[in-house]
Amino acid sequence: MHRALSRLKVEDLTTANDAMKRCLRLAALAATTDVPVVLLGETGTGKTLLAHAIHNSSERADRAFVAFNASAMSDTLIESQLFGHERGAFTGAQQTVKGKFELANQGTLFLDEIADMSPLAQVKILRVLEYGEFERLGSEQMLHADARIICATNCSLLERVRQGKFRADLYHRLNGLTLLIPPLRERMEELPALIAAELKASAASEGKSINAIHPEAMDKLLSYPWPGNLRELNHTVRTMTLFCEGRVVLPEHVVFPPDLKSTTSAPPEEPLSAPLPSGKLDGVRDLSMAGAVSRHVQFVYDQAGRNQRRTARMLGISRATLARHLKNVAQK
Ligand SMILES: Nc1ncnc2c1ncn2[C@@H]1O[C@H](COP(=O)(O)OP(=O)(O)OP(=O)(O)O)[C@@H](O)[C@H]1O
Ligand SMILES: [Mg+2]
Repeated sequence: MHRALSRLKVEDLTTANDAMKRCLRLAALAATTDVPVVLLGETGTGKTLLAHAIHNSSERADRAFVAFNASAMSDTLIESQLFGHERGAFTGAQQTVKGKFELANQGTLFLDEIADMSPLAQVKILRVLEYGEFERLGSEQMLHADARIICATNCSLLERVRQGKFRADLYHRLNGLTLLIPPLRERMEELPALIAAELKASAASEGKSINAIHPEAMDKLLSYPWPGNLRELNHTVRTMTLFCEGRVVLPEHVVFPPDLKSTTSAPPEEPLSAPLPSGKLDGVRDLSMAGAVSRHVQFVYDQAGRNQRRTARMLGISRATLARHLKNVAQK
């Protein structure tokens, strides 16, 4: 577990997997230069974490690390977000605001989910990277852009270029060094160490003295494909810590989310036998996502001894949200 992203360095990361070793070697190399880096990996594999680590291991470490998720930004906001604006530059611009490029000056600009950037965002970023300059909206003054660029994507940018969805010129500008972060299912040899580290941290924060994992519980963990990668692993370990009342983690403490894929692909007319945490789905007709969520909430609630505070913590939601879910469950 790496909670202190602001201090984490590449050399703090260790791995028992060859592909990941290669990735970390490249990350260490990237930290010694200013070349743009593309981090390619599935969701939850650690792209954001590695971006921070590269920044913290670089000469820019004592400057800002600025993250920008362009895919979540509407086109009307893109320019003022990236370049900032002067007071009065447009209706509602009540004060001068610095943009991401300016904030990241002499530091690192992390462009997240880059493959989904709109064509406009692509053009705007390309222009800055080509000319090394930009101006705030409403200002004539040219500002120098000296930000080291790290991008993250969960799909191949080259593929997006081939599909005509990503500009080839921007791709070439961004793609100095591509670091491939393998999914967790391809680096299962890391699992025991990752589980041990997360278990130690979460047991400490829960005030529990757990000192072993039952072999059957370990088998369960080792045979799961981890579609949500490290994020899901850490979440699962935290949940199992909460369930575990003694010193040994038992198989029933290891809980995975309902397999939504197999429940939704089953023919609706047939009785279902998809695995759900509380047993079989025989006779269940509600195959909607909302139905699956309700069943999961109910399951965790029961497992948590119908304790709302604990349930909310295990689900990673607020108590108000939980209360809403439970109300929905009760109304069904
Ligand atoms: N090597 C690691 N050891 C322990 N925990 C890790 C490691 N890498 C990532 N994590 C944890 O896994 C979670 C997901 O990591 P991160 O946010 O970096 O993934 P991501 O690839 O950026 O995901 P997304 O595509 O959804 O943005 C975080 O809580 C992070 O702390
Ligand atoms: Mg991320």
